[in-house]
Amino acid sequence: MSAYTLKSANGMEARVLDYGGIVVSVRVPDRHGRFDDVVLGYDSLADYLRSSPYFGAIIGRYGNRIAGGRFTLDGKTYTLAKNNGPNHLHGGLKGFDKVVWDAAPFQGADSVGLVFRYTSPDGEEGYPGTVRATVTYTLTDRNELIFDYHATTDRATLVNLTQHSYFNLAGDGKGDILGHVVTLNADRFTPVDSTLIPTGEIRSVSGTPFDFRTPTAIGARIDQDDEQLRYGRGYDHNFVLNKGADGGPTLAARVYEPSSGRLMEIYTTEPGLQFYSGNFLDGTLRGKHGVVYRHRYGFAMETQHFPDSPNKPSFPSTTLRPGEQYRSRTIYKFAVQP
Ligand code: GLA
Repeated sequence: MSAYTLKSANGMEARVLDYGGIVVSVRVPDRHGRFDDVVLGYDSLADYLRSSPYFGAIIGRYGNRIAGGRFTLDGKTYTLAKNNGPNHLHGGLKGFDKVVWDAAPFQGADSVGLVFRYTSPDGEEGYPGTVRATVTYTLTDRNELIFDYHATTDRATLVNLTQHSYFNLAGDGKGDILGHVVTLNADRFTPVDSTLIPTGEIRSVSGTPFDFRTPTAIGARIDQDDEQLRYGRGYDHNFVLNKGADGGPTLAARVYEPSSGRLMEIYTTEPGLQFYSGNFLDGTLRGKHGVVYRHRYGFAMETQHFPDSPNKPSFPSTTLRPGEQYRSRTIYKFAVQP
């Protein structure tokens, strides 16, 4: 297995493994030009192999949950691993986060990157069809980290790929993320049951702790007495992104960390964003340089189709058929604010 370092002309740097396509570190400047690592992860591959809550990894074939580990496609019912209580999560026992991807580095005019390829055999983790997946990581001289996903299949199947980096824009291990100020371009979200499966309702965020349409600290309302926050143990919900008409990447989220001045913007072609506030981090994992990942020391923003779409006919479809191309693009753009 190999590690790769991507470095942009102005010093931004990302370290990536071919195992799981894991983004191990991302170094970006603060408002004084000081670089820090802003993602959670481990020092060694052995740590990732032992146990990881998907730190930095590519998620597939299906990012997020499928209720009861079952879905029906073209009249046939498929059974998947229940690896998250009664549900299937993030592709199963050995998802795309736990396979070794074929990696090919490239150099562009104003960018560097890696093309990751993986062929998932028919029946892998219970999913039908041979899926050929390509995920391209590009680091640009504009301080963007871009993920381009592409997949084809030889039988009708499900595809919903995402990236599971956990961020702390103050710097990895430097406290919890509750002071990060989040703006989400989402008027609605998908409420869940107590096992985090969407009920099927598309609910307005208006008047709820899920209204991030104006900049709000993650911690401002996270402990309110709210059924959805109780089910998620905080934020662990899919937001329905407001979309333009052209299908290109649109602004999904803006996250600002006041002490460092770091700002991250997320643009995506996907219809949804899972905002996870690191609620399951509980101080048992030790990350890079031995830091202890306590409660809410990182947050994830997973661009995706909605959870449990295969069992929710009213949600945008995650079915991929032979002859079709699955394409998805997400951009993490880093900047600073005074
Ligand atoms: C996703 C899920 C969370 C949690 C993390 C990994 O974000 O929505 O509930 O499982 O992955 O710990």
